This record gives sequence, structure tokens and C-alpha cells, in this order.
Amino acid sequence: MDKIKLSNEVNIPVIGFGVFKAELGEQTENAVKWAFESGYRHIDTAKIYGNEQSVGNAILNSGLSRKDIFLTTKLWNDDIRAGNVREAFYESLEKLQTDYVDLYLIHWPVNGYAEAWKVLEELYFEKKIKAIGVSNFHKNHLEDLDKVATIKPMINQIESHPMFNNQELIDYCQSQKITVQAWSPLGGNGTNIISNECLNEIGKKYNKSAAQVIIRWHLQRNVIPLPKSVNKERIKSNTEVFDFNLTYEDMMKINELNQFKRVGPDPDCFKF
Ligand SMILES: NC(=O)c1ccc[n+]([C@@H]2O[C@H](COP(=O)([O-])OP(=O)(O)OC[C@H]3O[C@@H](n4cnc5c(N)ncnc54)[C@H](OP(=O)(O)O)[C@@H]3O)[C@@H](O)[C@H]2O)c1
Repeated sequence: MDKIKLSNEVNIPVIGFGVFKAELGEQTENAVKWAFESGYRHIDTAKIYGNEQSVGNAILNSGLSRKDIFLTTKLWNDDIRAGNVREAFYESLEKLQTDYVDLYLIHWPVNGYAEAWKVLEELYFEKKIKAIGVSNFHKNHLEDLDKVATIKPMINQIESHPMFNNQELIDYCQSQKITVQAWSPLGGNGTNIISNECLNEIGKKYNKSAAQVIIRWHLQRNVIPLPKSVNKERIKSNTEVFDFNLTYEDMMKINELNQFKRVGPDPDCFKF
């Protein structure tokens, strides 16, 4: 798996494996095992997904060296509100059965995120986290954080897919040297983006599926997609995207599919 460098020179694999809605136990353990077998070395979980323990088990059982895996988890909203940042971080470490994470993210911009960020910075300086970042932050949240931060976030993980490409925010982040990760990169659960005719037509030229075309489109925008699957074949096929290049015209056609339609909550008005 190719890697790129974050602003602090830490290497990150260009595709991550998402485990949102993968069930604790066999389902997550198998999915992560198949992901490693398919070449992923970057796993994206979160406290709120409830499957950190299974991710940790899969890492231990993989036989891979911990340093060869890029592991992300996230600080949940209730812990930010309660000021339990350090405790929540150590709980995640325990479940993941590791003594550091590669990336720790503030999951949503709830009140208290600035205070939480200061604790993430401490943990970063203590070398418990290799890179720190945020998720679901809009430009106004990033500007606000900038007022108190000693370290700029290395990552912003946001919703992005062809129906909601979020390009303006991506351009802003990239101008600030903040690497962008795309959540619901394939449009998430229950959308039909991958049956879109235009994406399938483009795919036919390269003998690729619509999902592979979308993943390639993210990569060519310098965005790190985090496709999730619990299906062995789909997990593998989502990595088979390094043997073709979308043309400029293909990229433009996909950009034109944008309908400004989110599949997830709006970071400016969510209720959890
Ligand atoms: N930071 C945040 O707030 C946030 C929010 C949402 C998600 N995320 C992260 O982003 C990851 C991805 O987002 P997501 O899980 O919402 O959506 P996604 O990866 O866009 O889509 C997952 C859905 O697509 C299906 N799928 C996967 N590969 C496929 C393929 N090649 N062909 C057809 N269907 C395919 C999966 O089904 P099967 O499993 O049955 O294959 C699943 O239903 C999450 O797992 C999580 O790590 C973060």
C-alpha cells in the first residue's frame, strides 16, 4: 500500500479500512484479518463503534509488527463534554491492546473541543499518539481551534463521496497542509451511488467497478478514502485501484455528479 507524509512527516497509507457498523466479535475480527491479507495497513475505528477490542484482537492475531500498522481511533463527544479525554484515550488503548495509536481524532466539534485539543497535544508530546487530528470540522471550527492550538491538526476526517464531494472544505484543508480523509467514501450504507451509470461507464473503460472508480477518484484528489466492508471479496477489490489512472475528463465527470447531498449529519447542526 502506497503511503504519503502528514505535516509532521509521519507516513500514512493512502487507503484506510473503515469498521463503522462492523459488529464486535467475529465480524470485525474477520474483516480486519481479510483487510490485512488484502494489503491494508491502516485501520479506522472509534470508541463509539464499540469494536476496538476486536480490532485489537485482529492486530494481535495478524502476526504483523505493530509498527507496520497505522491505527486510528477517535475521542467520543460525551468524553469531550465531560472533560474525560485522558481517561477515554487510555480506555481505547486498553481495548486496542496497544501502547500508542498512530492517529487520534476529535470525532465531532462539540463544545469543549478546544480544551480536548490541549490534552491531545499533551498525549502527542508524551509520544502516546503519532499524529493528532479532528473529524467533521468545518472551516470555522478549524479557525477557532487555531486560536488555541500549539499544533495544527494533521488530519481532518470528513464526509466525501461523489454526491457530496465537499471539495471546498477539502481545498481549504489542503491549503492549510491538513490531510483529508473521506468517510462514507462510497456513499455509506443504503445509497445507490455505486449503481450510478456514469461511474459504471467510466469503470468499463478500465475493467473496474464503480466502487474502484470512486476510490481512485479520491486518491487522485489527494484524499485518503476509508472504505468499509465486511465482505472478503469487496474488501480486496477496494484495494485494486493502483493499476489505472482516471483521465482529467473522468475526474471532471465525477465532480459533476455532486448534488450537495450529505448521507451523514451536518457538523453545524447535529444532536448527539
Ligand atoms: N468520522 C466520522 O464521523 C465517520 C462517519 C462515518 C464513517 N466513518 C469512517 O469511514 C468509514 C467508511 O464509511 P461508511 O462505512 O459509512 O461507508 P462506505 O465505506 O462509503 O460504505 C460502506 C457500505 O458500502 C458497502 N460496500 C463496500 N465496498 C463495496 C463494494 N466494493 N461494492 C459494493 N458495496 C460495497 C458496504 O457493505 P459490505 O460491508 O456488506 O461490503 C457498506 O454497506 C467507516 O467505516 C468509518 O471508519 C467516520
